[in-house]
Amino acid sequence: MGHDLIVGGTGMLKQASVWIASQSEKVVIVGRDKRKFEDIQRLAVDDDNLLFLEVDYHDTNQLTDHLIKTIQQYGPFDRAVVWMHSTAQESLQKLVDILSSTTKNKWSLFHVLGSAASRRVSNRKPVCPVNVDYHEIILGFKILDNGESRWLTHDEISDGIIHAIKSRNRTSIIGRVEPWHMRPE
Ligand SMILES: NC(=O)c1ccc[n+]([C@@H]2O[C@H](COP(=O)([O-])OP(=O)(O)OC[C@H]3O[C@@H](n4cnc5c(N)ncnc54)[C@H](OP(=O)(O)O)[C@@H]3O)[C@@H](O)[C@H]2O)c1
Repeated sequence: MGHDLIVGGTGMLKQASVWIASQSEKVVIVGRDKRKFEDIQRLAVDDDNLLFLEVDYHDTNQLTDHLIKTIQQYGPFDRAVVWMHSTAQESLQKLVDILSSTTKNKWSLFHVLGSAASRRVSNRKPVCPVNVDYHEIILGFKILDNGESRWLTHDEISDGIIHAIKSRNRTSIIGRVEPWHMRPE
């Protein structure tokens, strides 16, 4: 049992967030829409350990402020699952720096990335201090028996994320990213 931070966990990662909540001491979920967080509260076996940080993650200062206050109140995080748009790279880096500087222990970062991350030479990996145990999870696609392809469903994404967290592999691909030209429109 540890302390978990989830960013972007109330959309397609919802079921993964519910699973994390079932085996965590404290789960802090970052988002803008409280109703989506309340959905997770309803689905959770026990919602006493859930906390919502209502913040737009593009606002780096406000995110920083909220994270620091939460850590002061509840203690450092052991794990973070982060699905953030590429437009919030500065906030992602700040988040990593805060979580690292507030613990002497190693903590795990599970960074969820879109399919395009499998193509780039330099992807959106943040600079990780030595106490970060970094894992990337790439969302791929499916090729059907009829030769057509489709993006992953929300259930496939959440199941894949749970599997990636359990396996602790450095890189996990949910579905596939090859052959790249077969990706859905
Ligand atoms: N390879 C693939 O299969 C693949 C890859 C990527 C996306 N997709 C598809 O793309 C669709 C959309 O993905 P999505 O990421 O837009 O939606 P999403 O995962 O359904 O929701 C985005 C999550 O991030 C949070 N969020 C977004 N912007 C935020 C902000 N500025 N500040 C704080 N939290 C923020 C949202 O909470 P709040 O709304 O509360 O802020 C929510 O928890 C999905 O339905 C998925 O199927 C598929």
